[in-house]
Amino acid sequence: MNKKKFVVLIAFVILLGLIQFIRPERNQQTNPSRYDIFHKTETEVTIVTTFQTSCYNCHSNRTVYPWYASVAPVSWIINNHVNEGKEHLNFSDWILYDKEKQIKKLMDIAEVLQEHEMPPKPYLWLHDEAKISDADRQLLLKWVEEKKEQVRYSLN
Ligand code: HEC
Repeated sequence: MNKKKFVVLIAFVILLGLIQFIRPERNQQTNPSRYDIFHKTETEVTIVTTFQTSCYNCHSNRTVYPWYASVAPVSWIINNHVNEGKEHLNFSDWILYDKEKQIKKLMDIAEVLQEHEMPPKPYLWLHDEAKISDADRQLLLKWVEEKKEQVRYSLN
């Protein structure tokens, strides 16, 4: 290795070290949310756990972080995904959504499930546990339909 390459390499390593000090705040509310979509519901366990394992990392106030999530710049990328995901849909804040918004979001959820758009493909490469079987997908879709009717005919 010539001297110039060596200097570049050292600079790179130092930079990588320095950026570790910029740590995004973690999305880890400790208590389960009172406003969660499944708060005090009698929804079937399979449905709740499938949503939790496949969607909650990006669409709730509680992310389960893998070890590499501590390493910048990966931590920044994950932080962006979580913030963006929550902006579109946050299961932990569900009860705070008004009726119109809940119905709209349920329609969106049905769509992304039908089209296999969520969880995002690159995420599934790293998260085998988030893959949804065809049988579970059907269960979720059926539940979404029922939930939509339930919201539509609810009073508030
Ligand atoms: C790796 C993070 C991640 C996971 C896991 C994930 N999502 Fe998303 N989701 C996003 C991001 C980021 C967006 C916004 C950008 C986009 O639409 O691609 C989004 C958008 C959405 C939208 C669109 C909302 C709108 O306003 O149009 C829906 C619905 C949705 N996700 C549902 C789900 C469901 C259901 C699951 C689980 C089966 C899931 N997502 C899993 C990151 C994620």
